[in-house]
Amino acid sequence: MAATLMDGKALAAQMREQLKAQVAELGKQGVVPGLAVVLVGEDPASRVYVSMKEKACAATGIFSSEHKLPQETTQQELLALIDTLNQDERIDGILVQLPLPAQIDEDAVIAAISPLKDVDGFHPISVGCLAIGNPTFRSCTPYGVMKMLEAIQCDLNGKEVVIVGRSNIVGKPVALMCLAENATVTICHSRTKDLPAHVKRADVVIAAVGRPEMVKGEWIKEGAVVVDVGINRLDDGRLVGDVEFAAAAERASYITPVPGGVGPMTITMLLFNTVQSAAQRAARS
Ligand code: GUN
Repeated sequence: MAATLMDGKALAAQMREQLKAQVAELGKQGVVPGLAVVLVGEDPASRVYVSMKEKACAATGIFSSEHKLPQETTQQELLALIDTLNQDERIDGILVQLPLPAQIDEDAVIAAISPLKDVDGFHPISVGCLAIGNPTFRSCTPYGVMKMLEAIQCDLNGKEVVIVGRSNIVGKPVALMCLAENATVTICHSRTKDLPAHVKRADVVIAAVGRPEMVKGEWIKEGAVVVDVGINRLDDGRLVGDVEFAAAAERASYITPVPGGVGPMTITMLLFNTVQSAAQRAARS
């Protein structure tokens, strides 16, 4: 294998140590960062994510309050909880785990979270601030991708970045973040004609489509940096990304593994945003 692995687990561990120290400093000013985690219903994957987020908070010294609501919760009940959390001074960040049950309008819920506590970076104000180059909270997975690129000193200035996937959670925000670093950015999606041609000219490929090994190794330009955000479980139980890893690693200069690449960075950036929010509270008080 020619490529160097981009170790998200190691970077996440290093950043969490720094965050722990920052939390201890805030504690001296009487500020304990607080994250409210809201889970509606019984989705097994969401339960796992929420429990990982709570454990990560505890390990970093962040206070977390859990709000587990039944599947049949109404939108009005959820909005009432968000209103309470918006006003709770111990809470610096509010995370409503997605997806929500069908009776609840996700956009209405995201819009109800105070932009000052939007540590997921999903609120239209947070996204708008990112779009105009004046970011507040950046959403966690794309922000984690940017931190990984920074860790290998990948200078995006003038580079061709090709993003595969246009989701609100990853594709669109990571495009804006790369643009802010002066990259020339292309977003590819299901209607893109000739995806291989786009990927073949990329200096940096960011794959976030959720389709196992859809990006073929032979499309990767020699020396390109490959960031794989996908985590897909195959019928045989194996976890694979959106990129054909072994073949891509033959050509890339750097590549993220799956698992152990971008995955561990997402929760780390949630902690990072929560600590940043608490630091802003400390500065206001
Ligand atoms: N569901 C899948 N990813 C995420 C995320 O980053 N934040 C929230 N709140 N829900 C999710």
